[in-house]
Parts: sequence; C-alpha cells; structure tokens
Amino acid sequence: MYYDIALEKFEKIKDKEDKVILAIESSCDETACAITRGKDVLANIIASQIDIHKRFGGVVPEIASRNHIMAIQNCVDEALKEAGMTLDDIDVLAVTYGAGLLGALLVGVSYMKALAFATQKPLIAVNHIKGHIAVNYIANKELKPPFICLIASGGHTAIAHVKSYGEMEILGTTQDDACGEAFDKVARVLGLEYPGGPQIQALAEGGKATIDIPTPYKDVDTYDFSFSGIKTAVINYAHKMEQKGEEINRKDLAFSFQDKVTSIMVNNTIRCACEKKIDTVVIAGGVGSNKALREKMALEAKKHHLNVFYPPIKLCTDNAVMIASQAYHSIIAGAKPVDIDLDADANVRITD
Ligand code: KG4
Ligand code: ZN
Repeated sequence: MYYDIALEKFEKIKDKEDKVILAIESSCDETACAITRGKDVLANIIASQIDIHKRFGGVVPEIASRNHIMAIQNCVDEALKEAGMTLDDIDVLAVTYGAGLLGALLVGVSYMKALAFATQKPLIAVNHIKGHIAVNYIANKELKPPFICLIASGGHTAIAHVKSYGEMEILGTTQDDACGEAFDKVARVLGLEYPGGPQIQALAEGGKATIDIPTPYKDVDTYDFSFSGIKTAVINYAHKMEQKGEEINRKDLAFSFQDKVTSIMVNNTIRCACEKKIDTVVIAGGVGSNKALREKMALEAKKHHLNVFYPPIKLCTDNAVMIASQAYHSIIAGAKPVDIDLDADANVRITD
C-alpha cells in the first residue's frame, strides 16, 4: 500500500527539474540533513561528533549510533527551518544505506523509513561513496560525466571512470589501507588528535620532504594504490629515532608523508585520465579537502590540459548535500524509490 502511493507520487515528480529533496547522512560520525531544490542547496545541517570521539582516538561505533539517535530529529527540524519549509514541501526523501558503520547507518535508515511511511513519500537509497562523487555536480554546476574521479576518503581510495550519472567503472583501488586511514594512523603515531588528516596538513605547513619514504608499485603499470607500506615506513622511522634518542623533525615527517601520499594519488589520476583520453578529473571524499592534494592536482591537470573539479572544503567531508545530489542524479539515471523493507548495508561496494 505504502509503496503504491509513494511510487505514484514519484512518477509525478521524477522529471521535475526543481524537485525538493530532503536527505539524511549518518554513516559514520556526522549526523547530517540537507534540503535541495534542483541543484540548489536550501539547507545543510551537520551535527559533528568529532569532539566526542576525539578522546578515544577514533570513532567508537556504539557511541556514534547513540549520538545519531539523539541528533537526528534536531537536524531535520533545523534543516526545515533553514529552508523555510515544512514536510509538505518535500517531494522526495533520500538516505545513505551504506557503506559505513552498521549501527550508525541503521539510525538514518530506520528514521527515514518511518518518515517515508508517515508522509507516504518516495524514498531513494543512496550509496555514500557515490554521494561523495555527486556533490561535485552541485558544487560545480557545469560538470557532467564522463570524467575520471579520485575517490579519497577515510574508508575508500579508488579511481573511477564515471561514464554517466548511472554508470561507473572502477579502474584502480587500494590494496590495503584507505588514504584517510593512513593519515589517521600516522597522525596517531605523531601524537595528533583524530581526525588525523587536517592535523597532518597543519603540521606539514613549512615542512620539507627530507625523509625518504618508499613508493609502492613504482615499476608496475597500475592504477591501484597501497598505503600500508608508506604508513609503516613513517612509523618505523619514528620508532628508530626514538630508540636512538634523536629528536624527530615532526614537520618534515608530516610533510614527507603527505607529499608522498598526495603525489601518488595525483600521478595515478592524471595518468589514468591521459591514457583513457578523458579530459576532466574530479576529486571526491574527505581527503579531497587536503590543500596539497588540491594544489598538486590543479597544477598537474593544467600541465596536461585537463579540467579539474573538486568540492568546497565543507562538502568534501561527510554531509547530506552529497546524498541529496546523488539521489537527484540517480533519479535522472532511472533509479526507483525503495520499499519500506530497505536495510542498511555496511559493506556496499562503490559500484552498487
Ligand atoms: O569522506 P570522509 O569524510 O569519511 C568517509 O567517508 O570515510 O573522510 C574522512 C577522512 C578522515 O580519514 C580524515 O582524516 C580525512 O578524511 N581528512 C583529511 C583532511 N580532512 C579530512 N585528510 C587529509 N587532509 C585533510 N585536510
Ligand atoms: Zn564519507
């Protein structure tokens, strides 16, 4: 019964360019709600739990779920207030169903299923990583597929050939750690707070690449990544210096690590775009807010006559605008609403 009504409503608005979408993101440690009209952002509310998880040195899943429960209703209320709307003005609901922490995802999914049922509105299930890519369409209105996208987040690192709003091929992926994970682990060794990425970036300011770090896959033609050897090299260096009683040049170590990781990501992405003859490169994900990565990508893209796009810093890390944008563009690509039996899927693949 619900689904028939929701589908009927969906059919009426699916081709409307200025459809209004209310989206929820709760896959990790941000509870977020956004409202978009077409490609315009009317509200972008993010309740971050970073301060809560900092003292544990990383996200504690159980604590994240509990805090999502406490924050979610306020986020929706605030988003509606910021947009000057009521639920009656919303055409479509959207929610992240994976990938992420299962308990955290379940809060968003359960909340949105209840809201969909209560309002009898259509609900679109969104893949979190696809959201990171799609936020670029809102941030850069002229961007359209095809393009080569570097996905650089806390849980994923990959190179995707985005062929259309609905079709994507993964050309390279990390064989071990994600790049954000490597930033966070190295930061820990350097005694920096969670999340490590922004802390390493700040520490690296004014540093030099004086510390030798190996380059994985140096002599192999692949778009794949490996960050665990780099992370281990940094950790071993720090331990050796400690054992010898010598002082570590923390600035240079942070710089050398950041320089290596960002250079590898940029080189792989640019080489991929050139070899595949695609003239546009895009950055997506939390590590995409890294200044060195953005600057290097812009420089190399220019050298190779490629267009380059990335979201503003605020839209790189987790938010719900990205979920609304992916819902909007997946509807263009033919996505249908889900029924009330939608389940969260912690391990959903990038292409699912
Ligand atoms: O995409 P995201 O918000 O969450 C996931 O979907 O995983 O990415 C979070 C990751 C964390 O590992 C964080 O340390 C990293 O993005 N990050 C950064 C920067 N800002 C956030 N890494 C490097 N430099 C930054 N400025
Ligand atoms: Zn994310």
